[in-house]
Amino acid sequence: METKILMRSETAQAAEWIKAGQLVAFPTETVYGLGADATNEESVQAVYRAKGRPSDNPLIVHVAEVRTVLEYVDKFPAAAEDLVEKFWPGPLTLIFSIKKGSLSPSVTGGLSTAAFRMPNNKPTLALIHLAGVPIVGPSANTSGKPSPTTAQHVYHDLAGKIAGILDDGPTSVGIESTVLDLSCEREMPVILRPGAVTKEELEAVIGPVAYDPNLKDLSKAPKAPGMKYKHYAPNVAVRMIDWHKQNWQEAITFGKKKGSRIGLLASRQILDDFGAQTAAVFLLSEHGVAEEAIQNLFSGLRAMDLKELDVLFVETFPEEKVGTAYMNRLSKAANQKFFCKISKNFDTDE
Ligand code: TXA
Ligand code: MG
Repeated sequence: METKILMRSETAQAAEWIKAGQLVAFPTETVYGLGADATNEESVQAVYRAKGRPSDNPLIVHVAEVRTVLEYVDKFPAAAEDLVEKFWPGPLTLIFSIKKGSLSPSVTGGLSTAAFRMPNNKPTLALIHLAGVPIVGPSANTSGKPSPTTAQHVYHDLAGKIAGILDDGPTSVGIESTVLDLSCEREMPVILRPGAVTKEELEAVIGPVAYDPNLKDLSKAPKAPGMKYKHYAPNVAVRMIDWHKQNWQEAITFGKKKGSRIGLLASRQILDDFGAQTAAVFLLSEHGVAEEAIQNLFSGLRAMDLKELDVLFVETFPEEKVGTAYMNRLSKAANQKFFCKISKNFDTDE
């Protein structure tokens, strides 16, 4: 199958394909999604096949109007009204318990709940309107790879497997939406996946929310099925480095002694200080802040994966505000590993 890249002016064509049961990748403010008609069982199944995604990992249903969510959910709690008012369209996914049988098990992964989001992207909102159906949309990457932040990333992973890609340039946020579980009415809402909408911002609207404790405890299964899989991983070995200058010099000196081809994914200051000693660099943040780093993390991981490196050193940020989401994605890409002199090899997982 030839995969066609569509411009914004060709949104109607994208909608026709969705209506006809085809797969079309679509832009959002977070990352590109792999779109299919959420009400067409065969198309939804095809999404899992195209991505190579495990079938127990449920999909987000993208809507253009809050009204559509009401058709499926059991209850729309007061907290949801306030959140939707404040954050939609935007990078917040909400999990509700749904009317039995209202969505197919392949959308929900067989759960009694489902995830909904209204993306903040004009062509995609138009696409959903024109298609006349909600659109499922996992991130449009091959399962396990960094999420795509450009149409070219999607093309790299999915060319030949999908009908088209609606191109609206690079995404502005750069990592996936915050996932908030509102399905347990008697309990505090729980953040299942940290994202650009922070815990503090949510709490300012609805009061206390908790993080899923299993996000950090790797021996337990997280509540969002997708969070348990190896994720965001380029082929090159990734090692996290914290911001002390001394750590960067130690890591680079060690790598050079071994004859490794080293790459740096870091802020301007670190690239200025150490870039000349390495094989490749990619700018993560001009000003050394997590708000900028989330925009460039996935594109940086993808770009550096093409440089035939032995190891990629990536900067860490404090786990506060969007730093929490940044560190959640980076830890997965690095398989939790910090640079450590005593580990013998960059390319083993010991
Ligand atoms: O920003 C985003 O959310 C992007 C764009 C395309 O909208 N989409 C995205 O989808 O990241 P995906 O499928 O890659 O991630 C959805 C996450 C997974 O971790 C999945 O397990 C979780 O949401 N999820 C979906 N439905 C759920 C449910 N009913 N209960 C718990 N977790 C759920
Ligand atoms: Mg994903």
